[in-house]
Amino acid sequence: MPQNTLMTKNDRNGRRYSALDQALMRLQQGFNRDSSSAAPSKNYPAAALPQADLSESARRRAAGLMRVNHAGEVSAQALYHGQALVSRDPEIRKHLLHAAAEERAHLQWCEARLGELGARPSRLSPFWYVGSFAIGAFAGVAGDRWNLGFVEETERQVVEHLESHLEQLPREDQRSRAIVEAMKADETRHGDEAAAAGAYALPPPIKALMRRVAGVMKFGAYRL
Ligand SMILES: [Fe+2]
Ligand SMILES: [Fe+2]
Repeated sequence: MPQNTLMTKNDRNGRRYSALDQALMRLQQGFNRDSSSAAPSKNYPAAALPQADLSESARRRAAGLMRVNHAGEVSAQALYHGQALVSRDPEIRKHLLHAAAEERAHLQWCEARLGELGARPSRLSPFWYVGSFAIGAFAGVAGDRWNLGFVEETERQVVEHLESHLEQLPREDQRSRAIVEAMKADETRHGDEAAAAGAYALPPPIKALMRRVAGVMKFGAYRL
């Protein structure tokens, strides 16, 4: 039987952390957006592409869309952290934390692109993080295969959303487009991996509710 590390976890020095300690550490990690986090990582998908001379309306449009994507990545990271906190299977927890690290890279790409566009992330980012963390933990309590089902559905909806952004982003904004394309490839893989690990299919009303919650976030993040 897998060891249940939901309640406590030991670090390298033998210190024990309660579930509350772990949750607070995750929250701190989510909020820890110092100046270095805005620097594009080594694999920044836009690195080799030209900075297009965008019109003011195209720049604003791209910035709004990339702000929504940034908020989505804050939420994705938080969902995975919340789910990992309550996961009972050490292998699944490891998988969730690995995916969370990839979402963090996406977040950094979006933040870097927002800076290039002369824009800033959503002011509601802490709210997106806390809300999504709670949703992730709540979903995870249902059990690991439901947890994976939630991951699969989330990633499928994110892929659809990113495809819609590829339609909406200015054609000439190659840098934003390259970032969205790279994220879409990773999110597709995250969904496929969850399915391969034995995800349950979520009931349609839950899928519909998830779309509605995501819609509220997109509306808020584009504007605030
Ligand atoms: Fe992502
Ligand atoms: Fe993902």
